Amino acid sequence: MKLQGAEAVVNIGEEVSKERVSKKYRHPDLDDRIREQRNSREAQSLRQAARAGANVPQVLEEKEYCLRMEKIDGNALKEQLSASNVEKVGKNLAKIHEADIIHGDLTTSNVIVSDEVYLIDFGLSFRSERIEDRAMDLHMFKQILESSHPEKAESCWEAFIDGYSGYEESEEVFERLEDVEMRGRYKT
Ligand SMILES: Nc1ncnc2c1ncn2[C@@H]1O[C@H](COP(=O)(O)OP(=O)(O)O)[C@@H](O)[C@H]1O
Ligand SMILES: [Mg+2]
Repeated sequence: MKLQGAEAVVNIGEEVSKERVSKKYRHPDLDDRIREQRNSREAQSLRQAARAGANVPQVLEEKEYCLRMEKIDGNALKEQLSASNVEKVGKNLAKIHEADIIHGDLTTSNVIVSDEVYLIDFGLSFRSERIEDRAMDLHMFKQILESSHPEKAESCWEAFIDGYSGYEESEEVFERLEDVEMRGRYKT
């Protein structure tokens, strides 16, 4: 199966290959750099996340613009949204935040529910020690719950908090999330 996304073509067979495609509207040199950077970022974050004990696909091979990785059999979280699955997202996110990795694109499409819950799509991830960046990962996920799954948003968000709370900086991140939400509310 072949999935054409905005940035990459993902081929799913026995394993998964994710090839960053060229964007005509970018200058060729910049385009090369962006593709290479996102690809190596994704590979690096996946390796570090695995070392931190999070559930992520194993990297099999990293080329310039293409990443081969383990295939995770299952469905996107958005197809199987439940409090217990979301709690596991919180646990996994806490592990990667503890390792100073920010996911950067935490949606209910970028989580696969298999025997366990796996985080995927680290192309926009980055390293950071800032509380603000952690809060932004939570903010994005919470907004998607509220906009795409309103009937389950409240129970799922509570479960997320439970899962994320094992992490020693979690209280600080929750507090910062409140600030982020306030700022959003008072924006005209
Ligand atoms: N390791 C994987 N195992 C199974 N499916 C995957 C895997 N990686 C990606 N996919 C599937 O391909 C889709 C697109 O991959 P993703 O990494 O999210 O790229 P994009 O940047 O295009 O969103 C995912 O939503 C998922 O359905
Ligand atoms: Mg994706």
